[in-house]
Amino acid sequence: MSKRIKIGIIGCGMVAGSHVNGYLDHPQHAEIVAVCDTVEANVKRRHAEVLSGAASRAEAAKAGAEKADAALWAEYANNGVKIFSDYNEMLRECDLDAVSLALPPFVHEPATVAAAQAGKHVFCEKPMARTATEARNMRDACDAAGVKLAYQSGGTCLDPTSYAIRDYVTSGKLGDVYYGRLTSYRVRGRPNVDMFGYGRWFLHSVYSGGGTIYDTGVYLINRSLYLLGSPQPATISGIAYRGMLPEYTGEEINDVEEHVSVFVRFTNGMSFTYENGWSSNMAGQPQGIFIFGAKGSFSNDKLFLEKGEWDTDDQGNRRRYQGNLVETPLALPDGPFPDKFRDFLDACNSDAQPVSNGDVGLKVTEIMSGALLSAKLGREVSVEELYELEGLRAEPIPGWHIP
Ligand SMILES: NC(=O)c1ccc[n+]([C@@H]2O[C@H](COP(=O)([O-])OP(=O)(O)OC[C@H]3O[C@@H](n4cnc5c(N)ncnc54)[C@H](O)[C@@H]3O)[C@@H](O)[C@H]2O)c1
Repeated sequence: MSKRIKIGIIGCGMVAGSHVNGYLDHPQHAEIVAVCDTVEANVKRRHAEVLSGAASRAEAAKAGAEKADAALWAEYANNGVKIFSDYNEMLRECDLDAVSLALPPFVHEPATVAAAQAGKHVFCEKPMARTATEARNMRDACDAAGVKLAYQSGGTCLDPTSYAIRDYVTSGKLGDVYYGRLTSYRVRGRPNVDMFGYGRWFLHSVYSGGGTIYDTGVYLINRSLYLLGSPQPATISGIAYRGMLPEYTGEEINDVEEHVSVFVRFTNGMSFTYENGWSSNMAGQPQGIFIFGAKGSFSNDKLFLEKGEWDTDDQGNRRRYQGNLVETPLALPDGPFPDKFRDFLDACNSDAQPVSNGDVGLKVTEIMSGALLSAKLGREVSVEELYELEGLRAEPIPGWHIP
């Protein structure tokens, strides 16, 4: 029987609701014991949501087969959930096994390192960090403390199709996999420019790390690395653009990219192009992940195998090879697959790593940060020099405060 992981949620803004529901949905494996936010109204709202969510689940489960779950949800009313405004205090005073970070990117590293040093497992929102240096500090702090680090993009890999594609690619059935391409565009989907109600930090690179690549590209980069068997980036070349209409007219600082194109070479010889925008005037372009192998390809989730044959002349001499791509059903493994919260909870209770762990998050962050550094320098950068130069990407702007 696995241990019920005691969770403290840090950050109670917009995305925290999914953390509350994510853990309440696994009553046998998780118990939310504390919530923390510097803003009182936010922490109170999520606190009330944990208690009401547990109560309504308990009520609904009474009638059904989930009687054991009902009892666990009902316990919330007696045990309560503690409220904190300072996560260091929460780490000191609260009996926790893990923290769940629903914080803006600029707080991911300090909160992860503090939690790891306090011996707590960490589930962190995406993007894992603003810079590769921060991501490496987070990974190293968790490894040194012997705690697990998961970050939110795991949801892009935890399904039978992703598992089957990765298996196909890494087992060699697709032949030599030499190249991949990822395209992902929104027409108008810039937080706080075209879509409102997001945190002030989204458009300010010092706090967010970057724009579209850190917000939306991060998911598909994560999935593409998973599908390719987690290759290590070696060099990165990127361009970035901001200037789409309508212009941003708000008063906050907006210095993040709206489009990015990136070319990555991996140490194993594969390469990949990533094209991502959260405001693009592009229609009719196929979007998704495309993987090129010597024996076939994946066009999104469809497998195509090359089944050509030779034309011969009357004497049986080979004349011309007629290549032919045949869509081929992909054998899917039996489920069920865990969701990203359950994947993290299972890792806390075992020797396994979460699917999107610190090592994967570090590679994704190297690509994102490397792309924007390369765009700034106007040349390709190696991952080695990224760690020396990425401080050039942005300097904090004095006097700009996040509420
Ligand atoms: N909003 C979304 O749709 C969405 C979706 C998926 C992932 N995410 C990711 O989730 C993370 C959070 O995003 P959000 O939209 O919820 O942001 P948000 O600004 O709505 O919420 C962040 C919360 O963190 C709190 N906070 C900031 N510093 C703190 C500190 N030192 N200690 C305690 N609390 C602190 C803020 O007061 C705020 O309540 C980001 O990394 C984001 O990329 C957001």
